Amino acid sequence: EAEAGPSRGAFIVLEGLDRSGKSTQVQKLVEYLKSRGVEAEAWRFPDRTTAMGKMIASYLDSKSELDDCAVHLLFSANRWEKRSLMEAKLREGTTLIVDRYSYSGVAFTAAKGLPFDWCKAPEVGLPAPDAVLYLQIPPEAALERGGYGEERYEKLDFQRVVASKYEQLRDATWQDIDARKGPDEVQAVLRPIVDRMVQTCKQGRPLSRLWP
Ligand code: TMP
Ligand code: MG
Repeated sequence: EAEAGPSRGAFIVLEGLDRSGKSTQVQKLVEYLKSRGVEAEAWRFPDRTTAMGKMIASYLDSKSELDDCAVHLLFSANRWEKRSLMEAKLREGTTLIVDRYSYSGVAFTAAKGLPFDWCKAPEVGLPAPDAVLYLQIPPEAALERGGYGEERYEKLDFQRVVASKYEQLRDATWQDIDARKGPDEVQAVLRPIVDRMVQTCKQGRPLSRLWP
């Protein structure tokens, strides 16, 4: 165990297949934390508001084509361009609840057949999340939730491969969350995990770097 550092906000990532319920859970967690007087913000990747994010959005919407390697690096650069703001927020005590991060980056590109190590390389050195909460749902169940198939990657066969790539990314910060339940039940599972991590980071859990 590393020595305690300065008090800071927690960096919590929600991961999972498309339609696993991440965005809903992120919003609910931030509302919950704020109601408890905890400074918190909802973030998401890709961040479609930046110049790089707009290129990514156009690609996902099939309005443009990009080489698989090039778009992988764009997704990664979209995290790097937010890095200093992210670190500043954490230092000033704001907890960040983040919808997707480098784990999506690796899982989705590796699912296209690119080597795992190549996919991980551009992420090395980014701030590592304190917890990765993986909303686990069978791809078939996600499909039944509707709104699926509007964007690139939202295809059953591809999501199956993505799920198998996520399995290979499990590390010490990773926790599987059963996401087949209703939103309130899932939220009830997430809250105590997040509460504990907010406390741990307040007490100075050192921020580490990918990949720990
Ligand atoms: P979203 O649905 O959460 O907005 O994400 C859009 C898609 O982008 C989703 O299918 C996952 C994919 N993705 C990547 O391929 N690489 C990444 O680094 C990230 C963050 C998302
Ligand atoms: Mg999506």
